[in-house]
Amino acid sequence: MCGIIGFTGRREAAPILLEGLRRLEYRGYDSSGIATGTGRQLHIRKKAGRLQALQRLIAEYPAAGCYGIGHTRWATHGGATDRNAHPHTDQTGLIAVVHNGVIENYLALRQQLQSQGVIFRSETDTEVLAHLIAHYYHGDLVSAVRQALQLVRGTYGLAVVSRQEPGLIVAARWGSPLVVGQGTEGRYLASDTNALSGWVEKVHYLEDGQICVLTEQEWDVLDQRLASVPFVLQELPSDLNDGQADKGEYPHFMLKEIYEQPEALTNAMRGRLHEADATAHFGGLNLTAAQLRQVERIIITGCGTSYYAGLVGEYLIEDLARLPVEVEYASELRYRHPPIDPQTILLAITQSGETADTLAALREANRRGQTTLAICNVVGSSIAREAHGGVYLHAGPEIGVASTKAFTAQCLVLTLLALYLGRLRHLSVSQGQRILRELQALPEAVRQALQCHDSVKTLAEKYSHATNMLYLGRQYLYPVALEGALKLKEISYIHAEGYPAAEMKHGPIALVDEQTPSVFLVPSGPVFDKVLANMQEIKARGGPIIAITSGNEAEVAAIADDVIAVPAVAEYLQPIVTVIPLQLLAYEMALLRGCDVDRPRNLAKSVTVE
Ligand code: G6P
Repeated sequence: MCGIIGFTGRREAAPILLEGLRRLEYRGYDSSGIATGTGRQLHIRKKAGRLQALQRLIAEYPAAGCYGIGHTRWATHGGATDRNAHPHTDQTGLIAVVHNGVIENYLALRQQLQSQGVIFRSETDTEVLAHLIAHYYHGDLVSAVRQALQLVRGTYGLAVVSRQEPGLIVAARWGSPLVVGQGTEGRYLASDTNALSGWVEKVHYLEDGQICVLTEQEWDVLDQRLASVPFVLQELPSDLNDGQADKGEYPHFMLKEIYEQPEALTNAMRGRLHEADATAHFGGLNLTAAQLRQVERIIITGCGTSYYAGLVGEYLIEDLARLPVEVEYASELRYRHPPIDPQTILLAITQSGETADTLAALREANRRGQTTLAICNVVGSSIAREAHGGVYLHAGPEIGVASTKAFTAQCLVLTLLALYLGRLRHLSVSQGQRILRELQALPEAVRQALQCHDSVKTLAEKYSHATNMLYLGRQYLYPVALEGALKLKEISYIHAEGYPAAEMKHGPIALVDEQTPSVFLVPSGPVFDKVLANMQEIKARGGPIIAITSGNEAEVAAIADDVIAVPAVAEYLQPIVTVIPLQLLAYEMALLRGCDVDRPRNLAKSVTVE
């Protein structure tokens, strides 16, 4: 949430900062700004609105200098205005700060500073940092930052420059990620490795409490007592360096990522299917088979789409491994005190690996001595590093704010995990072999499901004026109904509700009228007839019905107004295939309604505040 970029070196900083902000814009995009420096002067340019607004401002009023910091914002404290955009400065313009996170005691600090005569110009929590650092500044930015941070409670990833120390950037981290790296033309810092692709080959991930000092000539990582600590340089994740973070021929990242799913699924399986043992293998679980046999319960946690993948995981692990699973929103779990024992594992699911609530829930479990695992897409992210073990998705960078390929890759990795746990417990070799065969056929089934795109377009034209929609599914497809409704809400701003198909007669059926379409997920197999009966209940009340089915099309078409067919796959793989038309439907509806698909209003890709 919010993006930070910094550069100090031998080139003009502004173009680098703007390019970095472009790559980070998916993290927040309601305003942006940069501060660069020449001589003993700072040049601040900031603007509410999308990055283009800042680019236009800088084209008119260039910001010179070979060092600087930049920020793209997702508002927490204070609306999306020019004044609230970062960087923030102190009263004399000595210090400029960009900040991710939340300063929880900012009101008390603000009042204290105001009582000393400081005049605030924004409504943000960040501005207190600029005034505090200026207050402690006596020619040494590093020690001023350290002193200011001793008064602060909350989370931060921040970067600071001072006009008195040209070329110097001081960065600090507590709870909000920052990476630093060295390139041929200078040194860089960013909130996210995505921003540094092509500029640096290796990065150091700042740990909580570390301060990093960067100039063109040297850099240093310091602990809270300002003693140097060693850099731990790690290769930049390889998938960032091959152009995957570009849209290519697609008009939107979301569409590109929807179409990448067959390949992303293949990559998530690569090297993990083991014919000889009829199971899946993972490199990084860090738990022996004997330890995993002892596990008696799994608590899955996550937020948003990752939480819904967790719900699919509940069905999968209970079904294939016969292990009890609970799924809990990370934001709730972190403040609960569920009884735990050594046989209970916490499994965090996250695309970014940086979601604040998921990270906090993981840390709480680690603190209590629980074994923690993570299913994560971003290599080297905080959650990937702090979990005891885990599995990467290898889905490639996901840039569209609405998660698509990460969801299907999460469902797939959960299937592999369920297979592995199942084979350790009760699944026979022949059951394992059957599952492996079904998994191998999955990317092709997803490729076929994508062929529904044209029919989905027609559907979107018919229903794009809806103001309410219901998404209904049962068992494995109940979480997919939730995910389909979330996709539509996120990017087309149509109110949508996901519900278990049979449960809707206990309430939501009251919403049904001629203007409220219901999207039914109708899988072949045991619940087919049951869902048809639920469809009849809606039809009897005049509600339009869209059916996504892998079952007998003729039977479905006899009830539904519109039918989209998807390939029939094993029951436990139905979520991955069935979500495809729902992703496309949300995409097409959003386009028809003129919405910004990759940057929906009020949202951010990576939510790093509580
Ligand atoms: C945000 C994103 C969602 C995502 C959720 C969890 O809300 O907009 O797309 O599902 O965060 O993110 P994570 O990175 O932990 O999967």
